[in-house]
Amino acid sequence: MDYVVSIDQGTTSTRAIVFDRAGRPVATGQLEHRQLFPRPGWVEHDATEIWANTRQVIGMALSKADITRHDVAAIGITNQRETVVVWDGKTGRPIHPAIVWQDTRTQADVDALAADGGADRFADVTGLPLATYFSATKIAWILDHVEGARARAEAGELLFGTTDTWVLWNLTGGPRGGVHVTDVTNASRTLLMDLRTLDWREDLLEAFRVPRAMLPEIRSSSEVYGHASSQSLLRETPIAGILGDQQAATFGQAAFERGESKNTYGTGNFLILNTGEEIVRSRHGLITTVAYRLGEQAPRYALEGSIAVTGSLIQWLRDNLGIIGSAPDVEPLAASVDDNGGVVIVPAFSGLFAPHWRPDARGAILGLTRYATKAHIARAALESVALQTREVIDAVCADAGVAVEELRADGGMVANDLLMQFQADVLGVPVLRPAVVETTALGAAYAAGLAVGFWSGLDELRDLWREDRRWEPAMPADERDAHLARWRDAVPRTFDWA
Ligand code: G3P
Repeated sequence: MDYVVSIDQGTTSTRAIVFDRAGRPVATGQLEHRQLFPRPGWVEHDATEIWANTRQVIGMALSKADITRHDVAAIGITNQRETVVVWDGKTGRPIHPAIVWQDTRTQADVDALAADGGADRFADVTGLPLATYFSATKIAWILDHVEGARARAEAGELLFGTTDTWVLWNLTGGPRGGVHVTDVTNASRTLLMDLRTLDWREDLLEAFRVPRAMLPEIRSSSEVYGHASSQSLLRETPIAGILGDQQAATFGQAAFERGESKNTYGTGNFLILNTGEEIVRSRHGLITTVAYRLGEQAPRYALEGSIAVTGSLIQWLRDNLGIIGSAPDVEPLAASVDDNGGVVIVPAFSGLFAPHWRPDARGAILGLTRYATKAHIARAALESVALQTREVIDAVCADAGVAVEELRADGGMVANDLLMQFQADVLGVPVLRPAVVETTALGAAYAAGLAVGFWSGLDELRDLWREDRRWEPAMPADERDAHLARWRDAVPRTFDWA
């Protein structure tokens, strides 16, 4: 058996990628699913569509690689985190569309909880501020809005899962024996898990009004959870790794040790700094989260800077403003001018996440004059991606008391040369891109492969990491400082708007 299959259930699409022993992607199947926006601030997915796509992309990847289940040693799962699915354990049918991590419908519930003890009242136990971003208030919302749901959840008839759990349960047999499990990294994003005990916590379940009977069992990120059912093309193959997508990317970047970090440029940006076995409390607006846990080994923790809107700002330029035809067009358009012409964009579309946590903020384009063109707006959009990243890196350095000496980047936007150069410039440190940029899927493959002995250990995985390209900072310090000053001035102008 020469391959591991990784399922990446992301926000916009689901992919299956076949990896070989050298950690190289051999074949990919990918399908997008619909993004449902029934009201302003609401974002939903159809979990049934996601599962149907998952089955299909597995078939696509196996057939492209020209392999069968007999060639596959293990399956890993990685996923968009925090997104909530609640389904009937007997029929396998979701009782409501999945509520996506970006959804802000529970802001009033969050405010009510924060009125009694502040937004950080659970931060010591969970590592998280109270925010609509995390799963707990979304679960309660479904139980409160679907008739009879709360009683059925209490009776154990309804099951909750993030999309890792949903995919695993279906892949292992669904109503005919589905395994109802999540991993520590996903559980650490619910606001319901104690970071120290790595278990659900009674007082949190009470505060958020979530019945324990509907929750999956929390397991490590690397162990055999079950085997693919007889319905699957991969039947009898062990499913042996689960990591939330940002933690998976950290693992795929081989950032296994304390002090190592990665930054993923996706719909949002997510910077993760591994803090080893230490739970570091943020004083600068970061989240404390689980990085990974391998079997019975001690868990590794991380600080995370989550930025809600980066790549999705470029989609917005394409879909809502129509100033580019496709996302990659942003680079030549931005490069057609020498600078931003005085324009600054603060893309606070869902409020601002790290390090500000301001649900009341809304997006702004500042500094417009008759001189400004769409090219300046495109350039300011790219700059906002890098400047938001600079903010979370400053927070990481302040919290962890370490200097980030280089940045390992991955995700779709690392193909954008102008952005990567500007990122290196505003950070003042080199930005590195690995040879395999599919680090999210790779990380889940690694976790699964380790559990079944396909790879021998972290040293072997570290040796597989290869640098593909590096951007060195080249901007004069005074120019960089001017960018930073302008940004710091612009951000608070978006507060108190919603
Ligand atoms: O926390 C949300 C994150 O996991 C979503 O990642 O790559 O699916 O946009 P992505």
